[in-house]
Amino acid sequence: MTTAMSPTPSATSRHTSGRQRTTAALVTGAGGEMGHGLIQTLAAEGGRAIVALDIRELSSEIRSSCDAAFAGDICDEGLLSRLLAQYEISEIYHLAALLSTRGEFVPETAHQVNVVGTLNMLKLAAEEARTHGRTVRFFFPSSIAAYGMATLAQKRAAGRVAENQCLEPITMYGCSKLAGEHLGRYYERHYRLLAKDRMEKPIDFRSIRFPGIISADTVPSGGTSDYGPEMIHAAAQGRPYGCFVRADSRIPFMTMPEAVTAIVGVMRAEKSVLQRQVYNISSFAPSAQDFASLVLREFPGAIVTWEVDEKRQAIIDSWPEDIDDAAARADWGWKPQHDLASAFSGYLLPRIRARYE
Ligand code: SER
Repeated sequence: MTTAMSPTPSATSRHTSGRQRTTAALVTGAGGEMGHGLIQTLAAEGGRAIVALDIRELSSEIRSSCDAAFAGDICDEGLLSRLLAQYEISEIYHLAALLSTRGEFVPETAHQVNVVGTLNMLKLAAEEARTHGRTVRFFFPSSIAAYGMATLAQKRAAGRVAENQCLEPITMYGCSKLAGEHLGRYYERHYRLLAKDRMEKPIDFRSIRFPGIISADTVPSGGTSDYGPEMIHAAAQGRPYGCFVRADSRIPFMTMPEAVTAIVGVMRAEKSVLQRQVYNISSFAPSAQDFASLVLREFPGAIVTWEVDEKRQAIIDSWPEDIDDAAARADWGWKPQHDLASAFSGYLLPRIRARYE
């Protein structure tokens, strides 16, 4: 189903059918946590239409920031053709994915959505580039799940890992994110390598490996880093929380506004400064106990217990305790806005309190 919203003034081009098409940024997985934050920022930037695609109907709040919203599957060719009949896609933010916990219940579905879905979007981008003779910029959110360490001892010994280390993920989500990174590199540099009529660099592929992300406005579902945001949102609602990982579990996290700032930062960077296609970024790397201590201090009466799920724990134990983001800092000026304390005091607490009051 398509819901056309009133288009903002934007550039237009002529489709092969002769019809005018509006130049747009396409955001897949638009109804998810990251889409929620990103779409508002892209809408505020202005300059081109925003077309949202999600498996579900979008909330009216997100829809109101978009020029059009398409509900359907990223693997549905008919839907994608209808979208392309109306819009010329100049950049893609491909956020649709099944996260790490959900993916372990339905790994083949995770592959279908995360890998085949990504391939479809890359193909769409390459075809758009070919039609218009203009490179399409493509953002792909990768994850710390792309890393994998076999034991907790290895994780502790590895410390902060750089982009090319420890790439043996243990989850289907991690495997599919790593596959997506490779596909993006292939489409940018080598797509149709032997074809006589190939286009050089149809895609400008940019990717960030995100840590766990905490939003004050939404609660994640289906991820394994969810214990951080779940603990905070539960305490703010006066609900006890049974944390599914050990108190000493440690992975990197950041706030959603930092993640959105990073996406815009890497997407607006001059290509000439980008030495890589895939970048680590990191803000703070607390233990689950660090989260609990802050939650107990800020919400007197909060109850946090440790109800470890050994299998989800194994996933967290396979992810690095922190990641080295020196390349992102040097190349495109990435800088975190928060440490754990300021993430709580300056962002999470005021907004979460207001939300649940
Ligand atoms: N938030 C993701 C997950 O837990 C990791 O990037 O699956």
